[in-house]
Amino acid sequence: MDHFVYRDGRLFAEDVAVSDLARQHATPLYVYSRATLERHWHAFNDAVGEHPHLICYAVKANSNLGVLSVLAKLGSGFDIVSAGELARVLEAGGDAANVVFSGVGKKADEIRYALQQGIMCFNVESEPELHRINAVAGELGVKAPISLRINPDVDARTHPYISTGLKVNKFGIPRERAIATYELAASLPHIDVVGMDCHIGSQLTDIDPFVDALERLLVLIDELAEKGITISHLDVGGGLGVTYNNETPPHPREYAAAMAEKMTGRDDLKLILEPGRAIAANAGILVTEVEFIKEGEEKHFAIVDAAMNDMLRPALYSAWQNIIRVEQHTAATPKVYDIVGPVCETGDFLGKDRHLALAAGDLLAVRSAGAYGFVMASNYNSRCRPAEIMVDGDQVTVVREREILKDLWKGEHKLT
Ligand code: LLP
Repeated sequence: MDHFVYRDGRLFAEDVAVSDLARQHATPLYVYSRATLERHWHAFNDAVGEHPHLICYAVKANSNLGVLSVLAKLGSGFDIVSAGELARVLEAGGDAANVVFSGVGKKADEIRYALQQGIMCFNVESEPELHRINAVAGELGVKAPISLRINPDVDARTHPYISTGLKVNKFGIPRERAIATYELAASLPHIDVVGMDCHIGSQLTDIDPFVDALERLLVLIDELAEKGITISHLDVGGGLGVTYNNETPPHPREYAAAMAEKMTGRDDLKLILEPGRAIAANAGILVTEVEFIKEGEEKHFAIVDAAMNDMLRPALYSAWQNIIRVEQHTAATPKVYDIVGPVCETGDFLGKDRHLALAAGDLLAVRSAGAYGFVMASNYNSRCRPAEIMVDGDQVTVVREREILKDLWKGEHKLT
């Protein structure tokens, strides 16, 4: 459930009319709901119950400081994949001691920075990475806490671009090499083995692959214990899907409870979850204005002021995002439209074949835009990136200002 609802035919973000926001802050505009973010985070945190755990929100889903600060205030941990994401977490008031660092290509200076800040754990994805972390920790005279990301070889049955737990993917350490790699880790002087990690993919709508992966990892943890290697936390990654169209993913409560149940009797094994999309996606919308209605020979087009540079998911993954009217009252006749942006690419669309009653000047909201929305925005076609707004009840905060033309060439230099 989220806090974007119609009241008398007008779309509201919590207690604020979205059309008022559009009038005041212009479009395209990302609008987030604090209550929704908090609700989703609590859904995970409460469902795990008494079992020792930490919800490490996946920063890549939405790394705006406003969003991170809301979650930091709840006591959230964070899953990061770069020094930049760590810097954002710290700037937003997050605690480095609750940060796990994922990703296949950590640079030495990123590792150094993370060690200096005292993060909770590196999720290590290969043997060369292990050696690099060992070397950097050695230079600093510290021990680096690590998990190995194990590739459990389960099929997440999601889009191939966001499926990560299969042998053919670049992620993680194969199950067959897990014991040997743990033994190597345990033998390195500046490595402290603390955990085990996995992440099998994103936008999963079925609970079975998660449970399957968890069970496989628990077997491995027991095997390691017999060899004298103790694992104190198990990080099951993120990946729980959301409803964009007619998907029926399990509720976070169901998912987290299923994970916690498998951990029964293992109170010394802390459970870590890394949800991103399930917390942020439906806590945000992208508001856009219809510039023109263009009647093609075979299609009706609504040309809007948001484009693939603002919201890449439809162009990149053919992702379907719901597009709704901000004001339901209209004199226009419904037709089937392609909702397209101004960028010079055929792939620049937000939605195809949408049955909507539209006229120039109308406002539309792209739903489920809070995750992998602004973070994947670019300046392609030299378009300024949109503003981002956080609504909290009737309070409105600009959490990122709209870019201005001068921002477009920040750091660039002309030749004389
Ligand atoms: N942990 C790790 C190690 C990850 O790689 C990811 C996402 C997550 C957690 C969070 O997954 P989530 O709970 O959000 O599914 N841009 C794509 C999604 C890419 C996800 C990459 N990894 C999209 O727009 O669908």
